Amino acid sequence: MRTIVVGASSGLGRSIGVGLAQRGAHVALLARRRDRLDGAAQEAGSGALAIECDVTDEASCRAAIAEAAAGLGGVDALVYATGIGPLARIADISADTWRRAFDTNVTGAALVTSAALEHLTASSGTALYMSSVSASLTPPWPGLAAYIVSKAALDKLVEAWRAEHPAVGFTRLVVGDCGGGEGDSATEFTTGWDAELAMEVAPLWVSRGYISGSLIDVDHLVEVIDAVLRGGTSMSLPSVTVAPRAQGGAVTQ
Ligand SMILES: NC(=O)c1ccc[n+]([C@@H]2O[C@H](COP(=O)([O-])OP(=O)(O)OC[C@H]3O[C@@H](n4cnc5c(N)ncnc54)[C@H](OP(=O)(O)O)[C@@H]3O)[C@@H](O)[C@H]2O)c1
Repeated sequence: MRTIVVGASSGLGRSIGVGLAQRGAHVALLARRRDRLDGAAQEAGSGALAIECDVTDEASCRAAIAEAAAGLGGVDALVYATGIGPLARIADISADTWRRAFDTNVTGAALVTSAALEHLTASSGTALYMSSVSASLTPPWPGLAAYIVSKAALDKLVEAWRAEHPAVGFTRLVVGDCGGGEGDSATEFTTGWDAELAMEVAPLWVSRGYISGSLIDVDHLVEVIDAVLRGGTSMSLPSVTVAPRAQGGAVTQ
């Protein structure tokens, strides 16, 4: 499996990149932070590639995917794990924050996919995008509007790709709470959040039943992704959900 993981410098993307490599994939790990990517590639082993990419920059997306495809000798799978979740009350979200959320969570996914399309078409490959339960399975969570609205747009983007390119498998992965792995593989999703606002909205997320306190085991998440990517041309998986059970453990739909 020649696999590109975008957003592989921390959190779930890093866990997925390293985990897929440990399951036999030849991986290219993409994100902005070079030092983090080098560490991830070292942990992944097996000739893993570390390639800088800023998904908000079209030329960077094209160059990084071209380098990854050349290094891997083609592309069988693309995992888009890039994502940012700015915390703010909806009335306070600036145009810049809305733009950053859409550039990173939606437009970047489209640009990376465009750049990889020729390779994915040649291999009848699979592209998988990390979405969130907050964009489709629950009502919007207070404080996370820019994230949730952009993830809902990402969900539609995945459908739009499938409509025009049926030779490629396009999968939306709906994910519930997951802390990622250890050290640099731990999620950094809440980095930069305003602590006071977080203390205000988090109790609402709990009281409304959006989070239970249980987390998905990241190894289970990687196993599901590995199975989706290995399904290849024999099956179509438009949407897969992995969310924690209230008492712990993963639920897969
Ligand atoms: N953690 C959860 O519970 C959870 C639940 C549902 C869905 N998800 C989704 O899972 C994905 C990973 O989340 P996470 O929790 O692992 O967060 P994270 O630790 O903050 O990881 C985000 C990744 O995105 C990369 N990134 C951000 N902006 C980028 C840019 N402009 N260009 C290239 N890469 C960029 C970061 O790398 P650099 O900063 O080095 O570029 C990093 O590798 C996200 O799509 C998130 O929405 C997470």
